[in-house]
Amino acid sequence: MKELKVELKNNPYKIIIEENLLENNLCKYIKEVYNNKKIFIITDDCVEKLYLNKVMNKLKNDFELDYVVIPHGEESKSIEQYIYVCQELIKKDIRRNNLLIALGGGVIGDLCGFVASSLYRGLPYIGIPTSLLSQMDSSIGGKTGIDFYGRKNILGAFKQPKLVLIDPKTHDTLDKREFNNGMGELIKHGVIGNKKLLDLLKDKPKISEEIIYESLKVKKRVVEIDEFDTGERMTLNFGHTFGHIIELKFGYKHGEAVAVGMLMALRMGMDLNITPKECYDAVYDILKKYDLPLDYYDYKEYLHDTIFDKKNLAGTVNFILIPKLGECMIYKLSEDDLKEKF
Ligand code: GLY
Repeated sequence: MKELKVELKNNPYKIIIEENLLENNLCKYIKEVYNNKKIFIITDDCVEKLYLNKVMNKLKNDFELDYVVIPHGEESKSIEQYIYVCQELIKKDIRRNNLLIALGGGVIGDLCGFVASSLYRGLPYIGIPTSLLSQMDSSIGGKTGIDFYGRKNILGAFKQPKLVLIDPKTHDTLDKREFNNGMGELIKHGVIGNKKLLDLLKDKPKISEEIIYESLKVKKRVVEIDEFDTGERMTLNFGHTFGHIIELKFGYKHGEAVAVGMLMALRMGMDLNITPKECYDAVYDILKKYDLPLDYYDYKEYLHDTIFDKKNLAGTVNFILIPKLGECMIYKLSEDDLKEKF
């Protein structure tokens, strides 16, 4: 078992990483943070088949349980599913001191967290992320929300969970591509903030409690400094500025696009004499080991799009670059710099 404490002034919480947690200590950990009876589990129709009964069986002797199931997939991060979940919970007579559990991947975590932030002006919730991607990213840090009016995460709130429970055994039910999707974010944490994690990954071990712990240490540290995303948290966007463009244009999964985007940002750093070549080579090797895409795109062709994005009113983009493995820096690039330097 590995444990991290996210030290936020008003909302401190633990992240527990434990192999077979869902089989063994699930109930014990929930009881440590919740002493009422009623729990509502929010999940999707895929995760329902894999884990809902298992979780309910483990909790049924100690809690009164009910659940709401929504369709799986990104389309469910919608106002319609938000309304559906709230309606179901109200029909089922949810009270303001009841607990929600988000059992599933990123969509479930974001939607359930947003319901938890708004129903009764706020309910407690626990995250049980079941995909590697959600374990590495969205389940930590309290960003919740839904997509609306064609905009990602445009309706949302910062709402920290009471507890996050990660069982690495859930990786066994992810297909290879979905697993890789999480690996992109896991490796990113090593590159921006934890050289030890990259060393641990060198021999391509199974993703253990220790590896998840070392990766989440980086996100935890950043969230503690910048809970509401006003500065430091942008370092978590390493690989994302280019990655987002590539993801939309070529249909990569998010973590795959982050892998390709990291390589592009590393090459940009090399051209600016910020990133040493060995650093690029080391990241390339690790991405290769974990079968992440290594496709080459010329970052210069996409720089213009990032700066002239119509949402970018300031005309400056913050790139996250890597001066050294396990360290990152913010590099501001304006319209004028673009003409001068590239
Ligand atoms: N996914 C980046 C963040 O949590 O800020």
